Amino acid sequence: MADKKAQLIIEGAAPVELPILTGTVGPDVIDVRGLGTSGHFTFDPGFMATASCESKITYIDGDKGVLLHRGYPIEQLAEQSDYLETCYLLLNGELPNAEQKAQFVSNVKNHTMVHEQLKTFFNGFRRDAHPMAVMCGVVGALSAFYHDSLDINNPQHREISAVRLVAKMPTLAAMVYKYSMGQPMMYPRNDLSYAENFLHMMFNTPCEIKPISPVLAKAMDRIFILHADHEQNASTSTVRLAGSSGANPFACIAAGIAALWGPAHGGANEAVLTMLDEIGDVSNIDTFIAKAKDKNDPFKLMGFGHRVYKNRDPRATVMKQTCDEVLRELGIKDDPQLELAMRLEEIALTDPYFIERSLYPNVDFYSGIILKAIGIPTSMFTVIFALARTVGWISHWKEMLSGPYKIGRPRQLYTGEPQRDLTALKDRK
Ligand code: CMC
Repeated sequence: MADKKAQLIIEGAAPVELPILTGTVGPDVIDVRGLGTSGHFTFDPGFMATASCESKITYIDGDKGVLLHRGYPIEQLAEQSDYLETCYLLLNGELPNAEQKAQFVSNVKNHTMVHEQLKTFFNGFRRDAHPMAVMCGVVGALSAFYHDSLDINNPQHREISAVRLVAKMPTLAAMVYKYSMGQPMMYPRNDLSYAENFLHMMFNTPCEIKPISPVLAKAMDRIFILHADHEQNASTSTVRLAGSSGANPFACIAAGIAALWGPAHGGANEAVLTMLDEIGDVSNIDTFIAKAKDKNDPFKLMGFGHRVYKNRDPRATVMKQTCDEVLRELGIKDDPQLELAMRLEEIALTDPYFIERSLYPNVDFYSGIILKAIGIPTSMFTVIFALARTVGWISHWKEMLSGPYKIGRPRQLYTGEPQRDLTALKDRK
């Protein structure tokens, strides 16, 4: 894997030879692990030029707008696969055959319920708590319920924890919503598909069970597929870092949920709708575009731009198509917020500021519009992202634990005070 070498010339010191590692696709990386012996570290806040790990799960070419899971393009998975099949692929490395798929689906269905006692946790939260705050709490609390599978060094325990998390996330997400509404929580129904079951638990009540629209279930399933994994983003890196200390999987996923919540990451889908509300009317767009361009204004156009994609976000292309299908199914045509969103998209795709900086609409721009049309409240958007991303997080966690790994422990460039002596309180100015 390392055939080329890089040489680092440090003034006044002997050159340091660093191996260059080659992946299957993508840029080579300079292995700086040997640099410590020279008395230097690398400095890369935000990991702009640093690969934090080796992985076989997901590949992104941000310049070309390519996203592959285990080698398969996201467009093909969205079109020809379903979410649970994608989960199997991410977790196991290969697509399942018919028998493996049936077994996996049945395993997941066996674990859709949560411990009855877990329900009591919800009562500790205010009804108006942000659903992500509740999710951080209840997912972390799972570690208190499944002691039988917490040995992280046991591959079977890791496997069962992964299945439990994928199975229980829709149940927990729907429970969070029902709690906020003051409605009875709905038990999962194993005769339904993963996406249908989620919509059932969200929108049905014990006194009225309505059939789930196949178009909306398909759209939901697509949203899950498109959010399933995205290599070493902030929340996945958080899960890996938490996992590297030996923390249990439920605690690691709770850490991932916390990292996802921020508006620069998973919180963006909620932020898009909040922004559209704030803009209010097409006539105000120019003012907000000017704010987005103003360096002295912290306002950013939510749902635009991406750290890695400097071309179109391939997930956004599929999401836009799904968005059109959902709006058609629901007969939504003249929604003012939708009109506003489409106008923003148009401006961003033609305005030189956005073109020069490659600020295309990202996946969260369209997912917010779809989720709103389905009837999911804005505050639940990031919860749905977390539900779908759980499989990505747990796949990375499993990958890390099944090979040699070290505790994640970055170094720093210290710019604080050098050593100094304390002055007695009476002598301090
Ligand atoms: N609106 C206006 N200007 C922007 C935006 C935006 N949404 N995003 C980036 N810029 C500008 C930024 O000011 C900078 O300009 P300049 O070069 O003149 O200083 C330039 O574009 C490069 O941006 P950056 O902040 O250095 O890029 P980054 O890679 O650090 O940040 C980002 C990426 C996603 C955090 C950022 O684009 C952003 O905050 N976007 C809005 C939030 C959003 O939609 N996030 C969801 C990402 S997709 C879901 C996920 O994977 O989590």
